[in-house]
Amino acid sequence: MSGQGQPVRPRRSRATAALRRLVSETRLSPAQLVLPMFVADGIDEPKPIASMPGVVQHTRDSLRKAADEAVRAGVGGLMLFGVPKPEDKDAEGSEGTDPHGILNHALADLKADLGDETVLMADTCLDEFTDHGHCGVLGTDGAGRAVVDNDATLARYAAMAIAQAEAGAHVVSPSGMMDGQVAAIRAALDAAGRDDVLILAYAAKYASAFYGPFREAVGSSLDGDRRAYQLDPGNRREGLREARLDVAEGADFVMVKPAMSYLDVLREVADASPVPVFAYQISGEYSMILAAAERGWIDEQAAALESVTSIVRAGADNVLTYFATDLALRLR
Ligand code: PBG
Repeated sequence: MSGQGQPVRPRRSRATAALRRLVSETRLSPAQLVLPMFVADGIDEPKPIASMPGVVQHTRDSLRKAADEAVRAGVGGLMLFGVPKPEDKDAEGSEGTDPHGILNHALADLKADLGDETVLMADTCLDEFTDHGHCGVLGTDGAGRAVVDNDATLARYAAMAIAQAEAGAHVVSPSGMMDGQVAAIRAALDAAGRDDVLILAYAAKYASAFYGPFREAVGSSLDGDRRAYQLDPGNRREGLREARLDVAEGADFVMVKPAMSYLDVLREVADASPVPVFAYQISGEYSMILAAAERGWIDEQAAALESVTSIVRAGADNVLTYFATDLALRLR
């Protein structure tokens, strides 16, 4: 109540579209969006991903076209994932470090087309390339348990980062949640004369049920789960610790992932981070919106915009989202 007994009227500033636009606190821009893209070996046509309507596994050619469309729409960066032929997977994920592997070929294609016009990012992780589907190489720990071998995996990530840098990635993005992965990659890139290449660290990455559709997207054969390396969904403090460690190891950017169920973690990381903070609206978060929209239960365009707005409001400087091109076109 104000002095005269009249109600305070915050609604005044919501009365017209012009007023709402004037006082909007969170403004999205195409440049802060990153489009994740999948490129597959051994296909002649783009292949729809059934659990992610509107998203496909690209051929090398269709990837170039879709990348160009995204860049013309104003999207700030592209994040590439490679999908090898099943017969090219092995225990070490060799295709990930092969300059002639699908991901590295695709990076080189986009680098040739786009140069420095956009920011090319690559997923630096082995799960797309291993026959067992884990993010690292397998081994045994001191107590005799079968585990993903942290330090043996670091050597693979280092080699992968160098291969991606040589193929044309501006940013490598370790997403496997191995301890010390950022430091190992930074040291390897620097030793290879590539101190120009940035590291986007998947810093607070949670073991989430919402990655479900991604498994189909990359044809992953994972049997089991990633709880021995990704974070427990209930752990807030541990997410902050991971982000802090990654910054100390030399990360140029940090990420919180998934986004929508972790907005509190995102806010805290954003408040504490000295580097730009990315958030990834992942496959399952996208697919839930699409599935409900297909049933006519929610409006896809409104839900896409609201969800990404919420992620930015929570503190993300940049958002990886499968809606990136569509949103960029609408925001212009
Ligand atoms: C690991 C990786 C995953 C995603 C991005 N990088 C899968 C996982 O950790 O299980 C998920 C992205 C998404 O679900 O959209 N290479």
